[in-house]
Amino acid sequence: MILVLGATGTVGRGVVAGLAAAGRPVRALTRDAARAARSGLPPGVELAEGDLGRPQTLCAAFDGVDAVFALSTGPDAARQDAAVAQEAGRRRVRRLVRLSSVAADAPAVGSYGSAQADAELAFARTGAEWTMLRAAGFMSNVLQWRASIAAEGRAYQTYGGIPRAVVDPADIAAAAVACLTSDGHGGRVYRLTGPQALTAPGQLARIAALLGRPLEYVEAPREAAARAMAEGGLPPEFAAGLLDALADPDPRRGGTPLPTVHRLTGRPAGTFDAWLLRHRDAFGPRTGRAG
Ligand SMILES: NC(=O)c1ccc[n+]([C@@H]2O[C@H](COP(=O)([O-])OP(=O)(O)OC[C@H]3O[C@@H](n4cnc5c(N)ncnc54)[C@H](OP(=O)(O)O)[C@@H]3O)[C@@H](O)[C@H]2O)c1
Repeated sequence: MILVLGATGTVGRGVVAGLAAAGRPVRALTRDAARAARSGLPPGVELAEGDLGRPQTLCAAFDGVDAVFALSTGPDAARQDAAVAQEAGRRRVRRLVRLSSVAADAPAVGSYGSAQADAELAFARTGAEWTMLRAAGFMSNVLQWRASIAAEGRAYQTYGGIPRAVVDPADIAAAAVACLTSDGHGGRVYRLTGPQALTAPGQLARIAALLGRPLEYVEAPREAAARAMAEGGLPPEFAAGLLDALADPDPRRGGTPLPTVHRLTGRPAGTFDAWLLRHRDAFGPRTGRAG
């Protein structure tokens, strides 16, 4: 049995689908099994209710599990990672594949990267055969621009001028499935990127072309981003950690396209344009002639 954490989310949903398509027994962790059941998971996928922030709720989910796809979310991530590592160690889970970040390469840059690095260490100490998937920024992060694009034809971003080899979450999921279902990935750290480095204005220009209307890029100062994150309920230290990671200009951390997705999945990493075409409807109606 393979347990997938974050199973209804951006990457986890693809991991569940990939494992189910490969005929593997899959258990999907969710905080709300009824909602997850309605959300279109593939038939035959088991659901387990549990909350990563409440370790006592995870026990049943780990019953009979020999591999885990793990991730953590939000300001509570460090506690979630510690709880999962402890449960996986206690149950002697054979294989652990963890979604991490290229920020783990530079823990000194800020608290987001150091938390990722600490979590990796905790997973490596479980005694399981572990694999770390250090992803670059997700292509899907541009979905956060939907509301301002719809309302005012603008996208706001901080540190958007730094080129990022953004990666398709579907490619991360495919890489995870490969690592969960085949041998030779134990003790490996894989850095997953897309095939091109793009700035935020470059991504927005592609969205504008697809929608057939002009869109304006606005570089938001760090203070404005921190304020918006605080208004969204994020603790200031956590928000600062995310912004420090965003501000990191080193192209070795997610700014340089790498062949890893191709090597792991057997197909080239998907382009941002291909991702955009698949998610075109998320950006509302096409109004102009182009696209
Ligand atoms: N975005 C990026 O650019 C980027 C880059 C590199 C790495 N990452 C890493 O990617 C990870 C997030 O992956 P994602 O975007 O696929 O996640 P996501 O879409 O935010 O989904 C996470 C899923 O986790 C579940 N969840 C949330 N809180 C939970 C809790 N307390 N207990 C149990 N389940 C919970 C939710 O499912 P239910 O509602 O069904 O419970 C949700 O569907 C993070 O660790 C982040 O650091 C992100």
